[in-house]
Amino acid sequence: MGISKVSLAFILLAVTFRQRIQGSQEPACNLKDLTALKGFSNCLGSDIGGWNWNSFNCCSWTGITCDNSSFVNKRVVGLELGNKRLAGTICETLVGLEQVRILNLSHNFFHGKIPTNLFRFQNLEVLDLSNNDFVGSLPVVIHLPSIKYFDLSKNHFSSLLSLELCKTSSHIQYINLANNFFGEASLYLENCTSLHYVYLNGNGLSGAFPQNLYRIQYLRILHLQENRFSGPLHYGIGNLSNLVELDISSNGFNGSLPDVFGRLRKLDSFSAGSNSLTGLLPISLVNSPSLSIVDLRNNSLDGASS
Ligand SMILES: *[C@@H]1O[C@H](CO)[C@@H](O)[C@H](O)[C@H]1NC(C)=O
Ligand SMILES: *[C@@H]1O[C@H](CO)[C@@H](O)[C@H](O)[C@H]1NC(C)=O
Ligand SMILES: *[C@@H]1O[C@H](CO)[C@@H](O)[C@H](O)[C@H]1NC(C)=O
Ligand SMILES: *[C@@H]1O[C@H](CO)[C@@H](O)[C@H](O)[C@H]1NC(C)=O
Ligand SMILES: *[C@@H]1O[C@H](CO)[C@@H](O)[C@H](O)[C@H]1NC(C)=O
Ligand SMILES: *[C@@H]1O[C@H](CO)[C@@H](O)[C@H](O)[C@H]1NC(C)=O
Repeated sequence: MGISKVSLAFILLAVTFRQRIQGSQEPACNLKDLTALKGFSNCLGSDIGGWNWNSFNCCSWTGITCDNSSFVNKRVVGLELGNKRLAGTICETLVGLEQVRILNLSHNFFHGKIPTNLFRFQNLEVLDLSNNDFVGSLPVVIHLPSIKYFDLSKNHFSSLLSLELCKTSSHIQYINLANNFFGEASLYLENCTSLHYVYLNGNGLSGAFPQNLYRIQYLRILHLQENRFSGPLHYGIGNLSNLVELDISSNGFNGSLPDVFGRLRKLDSFSAGSNSLTGLLPISLVNSPSLSIVDLRNNSLDGASS
């Protein structure tokens, strides 16, 4: 009895002592994260408002979110600095934010190439680098096993677009690479079973309609307009039974429209204007109960085949 009373008193004392230490200490973020942020800010043309280098608690700075782990070793899980008029390049040091889940640097004036290792974050779920002036090509191997949202639209990325995003993860729901200068696409997305939104419009993509897309059965929105795709449209489009919006306008597609609209029961909007389509309108298109917007102007199509 006596002994256990003593040890109980000791435990209580230890707990109080620890609480007092923590109470006197400031919360702080992990040193690796702090170093990564320092390197990141060094590559910018100006200071980031709301970042106080006199404090070790980067978690309280503008745009930064930390996890709830240890009091003095908090990990940065979010860096959201969209629309902050930031200019400069992204330095390799940013890769030190190894726990980051959300990275949003959209609507700024970043330029230059993106360090390849940025495409290797283990926990990254949201990557939004849209509306900047980034250049260069994407790495052949993108290893983002947790990625759900991938937006690189409205930049100056160029050359071959080789996407194999679902080799390691099938969580991705949203891919937006619109309005860049990609010239050729190799899309290996057939394992992307959660993919709902694909925007590839406004590039220089050429070749046939990407066949791999016919297997992404949960696709809801597909934008391929304003590219240089050509050749006929395949019956495989009928596989995309969850499509709500399909835009293939301003390309070089030719031949007749496949009679697959009976299978596209959710299709609300179909735009195929400014191609070289010929032949009769398929009866399933004319009779579609779901379609409310159809744009076929500037082709050589004839009336309904009924
Ligand atoms: C921290 O914990 C709170 C409450 O448990 C939770 O709502 C919040 O999402 C957590 N934040 C992070 C970044 O994990
Ligand atoms: C990124 O930040 C911008 C500007 O604040 C915002 O409009 C956009 O929705 C954010 N992106 C994501 C994926 O949340
Ligand atoms: C798709 O998954 C199969 C089976 O797991 C795998 O063999 C194949 O390499 C994957 N393809 C791509 C492009 O990820
Ligand atoms: C349509 O989907 C089925 C089932 O997923 C698949 O086997 C077939 O290859 C797809 N068609 C095309 C043209 O990709
Ligand atoms: C479509 O265009 C290609 C290449 O210009 C041509 O070889 C093919 O005959 C055309 N097909 C039709 C049906 O007009
Ligand atoms: C019609 O389509 C052709 C390409 O097929 C394009 O060059 C032309 O600008 C389009 N005209 C209009 C008025 O949209």
